Amino acid sequence: MSASGTASGLRLPEHLPAATRAYFAGGAGDEVTLNANVAAWRSIGLRPRVLATPRSVDTSVTLLGRRWPTPWLAAPMAHLALAHPDAELGLALASAAQGAGMVLSTQATTPLEQVARAVLPEAARGPLWFQLYPYGERDDWLRLAERARCAGFEAIVLTVDAPLQWPSDRERTHGFALPADWPQPNLPAAPGRGALETLLARALCWDDVAWLCERSPLPVLLKGITHPADAAQAATIAQGVVVSNHGGRVLDGLPATATVLPAIVQAVGGRVPVLVDGGLRRGLDALKALALGANAVLVGRPLIGALSQGGVQAVAALWRHWLDELRGAMALCGAATTGELLSNLLLPVSARVSGCVSDLKDLDL
Ligand code: FNR
Repeated sequence: MSASGTASGLRLPEHLPAATRAYFAGGAGDEVTLNANVAAWRSIGLRPRVLATPRSVDTSVTLLGRRWPTPWLAAPMAHLALAHPDAELGLALASAAQGAGMVLSTQATTPLEQVARAVLPEAARGPLWFQLYPYGERDDWLRLAERARCAGFEAIVLTVDAPLQWPSDRERTHGFALPADWPQPNLPAAPGRGALETLLARALCWDDVAWLCERSPLPVLLKGITHPADAAQAATIAQGVVVSNHGGRVLDGLPATATVLPAIVQAVGGRVPVLVDGGLRRGLDALKALALGANAVLVGRPLIGALSQGGVQAVAALWRHWLDELRGAMALCGAATTGELLSNLLLPVSARVSGCVSDLKDLDL
């Protein structure tokens, strides 16, 4: 596999160093999960009725008391200054202007206050959330959540699927390393390094999550859920669930998110919103996610592809293209609103990748 990462559905420009392309495009292990994410959305077919075209199409969604014009947010992604000088600010401005939300990573290269100042004045923007890695002590997490609230962020996305991270094979092959003195202005404390035992001792547990959810000045969503039982537990203490396997970057072998989404939606039972990410590569994939019961979706690598190609303008163009496609597809599927996208619109598995989404067979189709 080349460092460009075409297998993950991502093309990165050749002007980026091979090591940087390896960092953005790559996944853990043999990249089975990374590729399964993409394949699973593609494998879901549609079976709309004809002669049911709505007179208008409304792509807006509502969650956590907030309505915005698209069903998507930019996923939290670290170190975006490696992709383009516009970095997080470019992603945030383009997303806000195109009615998308944004989740800013703890490991962003831009201070969270600067991103908030740029985004908040945009009238049609989607939600602005802050992703929290639980580095340091409990009080450090709370201080960072409070800092995000003061800046104007509206929710905390606590990532629970990456207590340990190590370089992917692609990163090793291409010798990826962050430059010396790389800016990480939102880190509450140095990320955990050192012996495996040290990292394991610091790893987050349910008690920690409950502690944070009780004290957080903002609603907390848990990102990185792939098991329905975890989703059910999360729904009792947090304000939302993000079905995610970190874009296949942490533990290879996790199921594709499209395959576990229906069971998680069922386990959560509408108590809190369910979002999903991983492998969405076009507007049509968002339609499928909504039809499977997601309340909204997060988009990762496609935005890195656009950002690295052409900064803020290219990200805005990508969002417009996705929205055009979604609007057209909703119209062709006879859905006037996102709430009308239901699972009876979907066909389980195409023969091409049969087995990928076998769980969908359990749906009442
Ligand atoms: C990520 N992701 C991620 N997640 C998170 O919670 N905090 C982070 O800092 C990062 N950083 C990060 C960097 C890069 C380069 C990538 C590609 C991804 C995971 C991200 O939020 C999301 O879950 C996946 O990217 C979704 O999969 P797709 O859309 O990239 O296939």
